[in-house]
Amino acid sequence: MTRAKIIGIGSYTPERVLTNSDLEKIVDTSDEWIISRTGIIERHIAADDEDTSDMCVEAAKSALDMAGLKETDIDMIIAGTVTPDYRLPSLSCMIQKKLGASNSATMDIVAACAGFIHGLSVAQAYIATGTYKNILVFGAEKLSSITNYDDRNTCVLFGDAAGAAILTASDDESGILSTYLKSDGNLDRLLYIEAGGTHTPYGQNGDFRKQDTCIVMHGNEVFKHAVRYMGDAAARVAKEAGFTPDSIDLLVPHQANIRIIQATAKRVGVPWEKVYLNIEKYGNTSAASVPLALDQAVKEGRIKKGSNIVIVAFGGGLTWGAAAIRW
Ligand SMILES: CC(C)(COP(=O)(O)OP(=O)(O)OC[C@H]1O[C@@H](n2cnc3c(N)ncnc32)[C@H](O)[C@@H]1OP(=O)(O)O)[C@@H](O)C(=O)NCCC(=O)NCCS
Repeated sequence: MTRAKIIGIGSYTPERVLTNSDLEKIVDTSDEWIISRTGIIERHIAADDEDTSDMCVEAAKSALDMAGLKETDIDMIIAGTVTPDYRLPSLSCMIQKKLGASNSATMDIVAACAGFIHGLSVAQAYIATGTYKNILVFGAEKLSSITNYDDRNTCVLFGDAAGAAILTASDDESGILSTYLKSDGNLDRLLYIEAGGTHTPYGQNGDFRKQDTCIVMHGNEVFKHAVRYMGDAAARVAKEAGFTPDSIDLLVPHQANIRIIQATAKRVGVPWEKVYLNIEKYGNTSAASVPLALDQAVKEGRIKKGSNIVIVAFGGGLTWGAAAIRW
């Protein structure tokens, strides 16, 4: 089977920054509580007229640059998101249009914070079978559009961003060595949005309460599952790839909560200096979190050719997944 490798990576974060002290003026919270319970200091928020696809196009331009490819070289676009521009058409179609990637097939993946890793796994399978050559995978969210800024349990956590990776067939030892995906739909009510689907369609039962169109999360319960499943998934792909804790160069986890990241690192057996962290600047950007972190780690020189990387994410569904990569 042909192995897939990442030959281009890019990300975009919107200009506007929402700090903890800004949030202190909106809800009953404190900078001290947010930092100590989550590790977040600030997050970026997209402009009103900035759609998820606009952020994706910016991320894609950097990824294409690094890969040395043109938009028209892309055979498939896979977008992991829970905040597409429209319910129909898909985010990936909007990206195709705005990017001018006219030769590509498109597909969206709804796996919340684990959306990028799901996309990566699907892309890898297409490349392994020779179906597509160059695949552009996104994790992107405008979470501010589904965040209830009256709910202190959630609004302090989320931010907006996009990340993009280009995968192609590997001609050397580098690439995606192992992946793992898993879900538990029985835990659907721990993290959800009530309205907008067939169960509670918009516009049929009168006006919606604002909170029904936004993320609801039972943080404490989600936390317990995240600690367990992120650690298990990361340890599993590392083992399958033949990585020992010593041979892992960088763990790049979903940036949901610094305490979850600490527990994940402990389970995998990597010291704190081998964990990539940017939660303090961006908060939880759901599907964008892992590709944003990967891109920054590459640009900061913390990931180099030959580095052994483990990425892992967890989110609503519940869904989770991990991948071991030799860069
Ligand atoms: C959301 C999260 C940070 C909350 O931290 P926690 O330590 O679990 O806090 P709890 O939910 O137990 O709440 C503790 C108290 O803080 C309060 N609180 C919640 N948000 C607060 C805020 N922003 N500011 C101040 N107090 C807050 C709660 O109301 C509660 O008060 P009470 O004890 O009087 O009822 C944490 O549960 C978490 O990160 N969960 C997982 C999120 C995640 O991984 N999501 C993944 C997919 S997106």
